[in-house]
Amino acid sequence: MKSIGLDVGNGTTCIVVRREDGSISRKMYASTYGLYDKDKEKTAIGTSKSQHANGVQSNVFALNGREYVVGYQDVQTVGSTPVSTYGREERVHLGAYQTMTRLALLDAATMDGDTGVIEVALGFGVPNEDYREERLSEFAKWFKEPITGAKNGEQVVVMVNQFELLSQPIAVLVDAYYDDEGYVQDPTIEVDNVLVIDSGSGTLDMTEFRGMKLQKQVSEAIGMNDVYQRVIEDIEKRQPKVRADAYNLEYQIRSQDGKPEMVYQHGSLCIPITDLYVNAMNDVWTDMVGRIERRYPDRMRFNRVLLAGGTGDAFAERFARWMPQIQKTVEPQLAIARGLCKYVISLVGATE
Ligand SMILES: Nc1ncnc2c1ncn2[C@@H]1O[C@H](COP(=O)(O)OP(=O)(O)OP(=O)(O)O)[C@@H](O)[C@H]1O
Ligand SMILES: [Mg+2]
Repeated sequence: MKSIGLDVGNGTTCIVVRREDGSISRKMYASTYGLYDKDKEKTAIGTSKSQHANGVQSNVFALNGREYVVGYQDVQTVGSTPVSTYGREERVHLGAYQTMTRLALLDAATMDGDTGVIEVALGFGVPNEDYREERLSEFAKWFKEPITGAKNGEQVVVMVNQFELLSQPIAVLVDAYYDDEGYVQDPTIEVDNVLVIDSGSGTLDMTEFRGMKLQKQVSEAIGMNDVYQRVIEDIEKRQPKVRADAYNLEYQIRSQDGKPEMVYQHGSLCIPITDLYVNAMNDVWTDMVGRIERRYPDRMRFNRVLLAGGTGDAFAERFARWMPQIQKTVEPQLAIARGLCKYVISLVGATE
């Protein structure tokens, strides 16, 4: 049986899969999907037959009698329109969020090329505020019946034989606690006073654990979304005719990771945005650190601070300067999905 960790965040969906042979695959993309339409695809700019610029094929998933592509890149490649799945508190009741989750599960189960009937053990992450009896039973219903669909025309039935829900901050803690085989690698977590900082696209969650028991959680609505939003406003000020969308801006910025100069491409227009991005990052950091300081004026009392989330990664150096005891998790954006996957492995066994 495959073990899958699935973290469908407001901004990014992260997937970690461990197969019976021990190989691990991971994947992440913007939490969006689009309807697949063959005719539209033909007219999509610069593409042919659902092929990315780098030659990778877009996967088409069938679900409930419709065809979809998942993740911003594939949506763009086939000329579809990205559907937003944003919704923090009431996500369990959002149709789009449920569709996104099912598509991501189909993708996760078939990532290695498998089709047909696929049995999985699934670890699914929910925000701490959703970790309540009545919501958890709603989520569990999504996976009770097998998920039937298709990938690129081949039938797929995903059977979730084991289903585990964890709150996201606990998944981060579990990631530090277990190794890839689901064995304890760091027993000090059992006694430490740990602060988990999960800095995501829209929310900054700070969760305190003592002896692996959740003590307290606070959330602040701030993250990379605020950075992108500021950049968009500034681009539109500079070029009043340009309307930039956040998925596209994020995609373009991330494709230029590590480059000293950044641009935003809009049709034939090429707008330099290096200064806009740097200013937005600085402003958001100042705002963010102010909020954390207000919540945790005594931050030095934690002997362990785990940093997770994509925004955590983006601001990792600043976090480290400000809080020297901070430990950036390996690939912070994947920490939750990895923890979820490790957790199910610890239950079903690594070699089953
Ligand atoms: N190294 C990096 N540099 C800059 N931005 C990054 C980096 N890594 C990830 N990001 C950005 O982090 C954001 C996603 O973070 P994350 O996946 O933690 O959010 P999320 O879980 O979807 O959101 P939330 O927790 O608010 O629901 C994206 O905007 C992504 O582009
Ligand atoms: Mg998150």
